[in-house]
Amino acid sequence: MSIFQLNDKLALVTGAATGLGQAIALTLARQGATLVLTDKPDASSGLAETAELIRRAGGTSTSVPIDVRDLKQIENATGELLNRVGRVDILVNNAGINRPKAALEVDVENWDDHYHTNVRGGFFMAQKVAPAMISAGHGRIIFISSQSGLIGIPGQPVYCSTKGAVIQLVRTLGVEWAKFGITVNSVAPTFVETNLTRQRLKNPEFLKFVLGKIPAGKLATPEQVASAVAFLASDEAAMVNCHTLCVDGGWTAW
Ligand SMILES: NC(=O)c1ccc[n+]([C@@H]2O[C@H](COP(=O)([O-])OP(=O)(O)OC[C@H]3O[C@@H](n4cnc5c(N)ncnc54)[C@H](O)[C@@H]3O)[C@@H](O)[C@H]2O)c1
Repeated sequence: MSIFQLNDKLALVTGAATGLGQAIALTLARQGATLVLTDKPDASSGLAETAELIRRAGGTSTSVPIDVRDLKQIENATGELLNRVGRVDILVNNAGINRPKAALEVDVENWDDHYHTNVRGGFFMAQKVAPAMISAGHGRIIFISSQSGLIGIPGQPVYCSTKGAVIQLVRTLGVEWAKFGITVNSVAPTFVETNLTRQRLKNPEFLKFVLGKIPAGKLATPEQVASAVAFLASDEAAMVNCHTLCVDGGWTAW
């Protein structure tokens, strides 16, 4: 039996130019979805790379620039997309930043940039595509939160608090929109080596701290995170709602 298939589904992934977003887009395409790849306007070469990986895997995609901090860009791009294709079946709010600063060093710019990208951007992406999902009577919204939304990590107060906010948003939107056939969930990865983490993971002391916290003793891979997203996007996950699925090798269990 073939399960978790996404044939005939249109999936929009934010931050799809690299890292987890690229792996998620490719995995959803391999499961049969048609992809709308979005990222900041200056990330067009990364988006082209993701599009080429999808093409080589036999999938189809289009690319649309959206900086999720900019509400006008969200409104214009989702409005144009919905006018053109009429639907988005799966939204993956993956775009995110982490610029660690100890609490005493945090300034307003650092605070606002995290909140506007990690929380506000994802919320308004969801708000703008939800009406089409409501009309269709079906939708899947998946945020990439983080284990950092469930625990504290020294030196990352702002990032951790944005991811906690995402986990709470998922619960609230999922409760509000369940009656329309929409589920809202998040995937909470532990550390994965990407542009977001590579520099910090190069520090042997930090890597030792991280691996010492993961009972599995290994980092997660982008593909493992993407597989969890594919499950939540599938028809089989219809009764999984308001949930945060940890892909953390057990970090948050102890
Ligand atoms: N890598 C990890 O260890 C890890 C762990 C837990 C959660 N996450 C989360 O996973 C998501 C992806 O992280 P990643 O590791 O792939 O990071 P990454 O830095 O490799 O990729 C992030 C992508 O998001 C895009 N992006 C950033 N700001 C944006 C904006 N304003 N508008 C549109 N796109 C924007 C970037 O251009 C980039 O393509 C993030 O939400 C991150 O918080 C990552």
